[in-house]
Amino acid sequence: MLTKAPRGTRDILPAETGMWQFFEEKVREVSRLFGYSEIRTPIFEHTELFLRGVGEVTDIVSKEMYTFTDRGQRSLTLRPEGTASVARAYLEHKMQGEAQPVKLYYVGPMFRYDRPQAGRYRQFHQYGVEVFGASDPTVDAEVIALPLSFFRSLGLKDFTLHINSVGCPKCRGEYRQQLQASLKEIVGELCKDCAERYDKNPMRILDCKNEQCQELTKDVPAQLELLCEECADHFAAVREALDALGESYIVNPRLVRGLDYYTKTAFEIMSSELGAQSTICGGGRYDHLLSTIGGPDVPGIGFAMGIERVLLAMEAAGVQPRADRGTDVFVATAGVAAAEALKVTLALRQAQVAADKDYLGRSLKAQLKYANRLGVRYLVILGAEEMQNGQATLRDMQTGEQETVTLAALTERVVALVREAK
Ligand code: HAM
Repeated sequence: MLTKAPRGTRDILPAETGMWQFFEEKVREVSRLFGYSEIRTPIFEHTELFLRGVGEVTDIVSKEMYTFTDRGQRSLTLRPEGTASVARAYLEHKMQGEAQPVKLYYVGPMFRYDRPQAGRYRQFHQYGVEVFGASDPTVDAEVIALPLSFFRSLGLKDFTLHINSVGCPKCRGEYRQQLQASLKEIVGELCKDCAERYDKNPMRILDCKNEQCQELTKDVPAQLELLCEECADHFAAVREALDALGESYIVNPRLVRGLDYYTKTAFEIMSSELGAQSTICGGGRYDHLLSTIGGPDVPGIGFAMGIERVLLAMEAAGVQPRADRGTDVFVATAGVAAAEALKVTLALRQAQVAADKDYLGRSLKAQLKYANRLGVRYLVILGAEEMQNGQATLRDMQTGEQETVTLAALTERVVALVREAK
């Protein structure tokens, strides 16, 4: 047990970190292009923030949180998502006093106690953005366009955008009553979870994955058909803006997100490269989240994507990020004190060349084999006789060409070669 990571968590090994770094570089690039600044919030928050922000009757809060009491008897929770934390930070740092909208992005681990399977983990990572202080429908279109353009820049093609409007507190009350009325007859035949949802959160019944529930509820009214005028106009304007951008989408009246804070626009992006866990991105508008957690009524909208899922989709689509270059130069020794090799290696590193050496007292032959395994392009050989003459051998492992270089000029020569090879 001590040599196994906890269930639902995983190590990201050196063979994978190239993909992660490529992804993160693209995140910074696209976020900057779209005008977002990075925010880093704590990994745990007061439990109350998620109870109120995400909603007590959601699966995330009622079943999936990692909650603990600290030594000061405070109830804390490992963040299951980023929106509530970023909203809390917006209020705590009085960002409503800054020029609006405030556009923030984040990358980091989230924690949900769910049944692990391919693409679903207990510790997973999200890239998300949040925009505060703007209710214009073009902001919704921009927040939807960002992940679409991002996925394309990663080399993904097979994904579909689903959009819906989940209304506002004004139209939702009436819808809820109508929904409950039309579910009344069949509630006994729904699954156990849906039977519980009937009273507390009937909208979530529409989102149940159980086939029988889906069949039984296929004709119940959707919120989309009962939007108030303001929500209907807003949704029409979001669609218009997406049309103007040339983005295609499916209007999915049954799209209900698993978090309670949403109002008006809700959307998800599915990848056809993945199996059951195909939602690679989800988001929407949350115009009352800030007031729910104790702030003024500032509108907001955002999305988050599951990084593991996006990487799985990239892998399935055969997207290869450029390989990490790794080590450029290996410094081998033959009958020379190891400290000499260390000195040369450190000088190269100082000149921004990725250099390494032997640390196990290997023979020259074994050092060459090791250098090959590292995949270095250049080899520096420090031989006893040459060293006495102030010289070293420099070999291009790709072409096999060799030259003798003075120790004084060695670093400069290697820098020039590495730069040329890039
Ligand atoms: P969410 O739909 O709960 O939304 O999560 C967003 C994305 O995170 C999902 O579409 C999925 O790709 C990934 N994800 C969720 N749970 C897991 C898991 N257990 N394992 C792997 N990946 C997972 C939110 O979290 C909202 N905060 C999004 C948002 C931001 N809405 C407005 N602003």
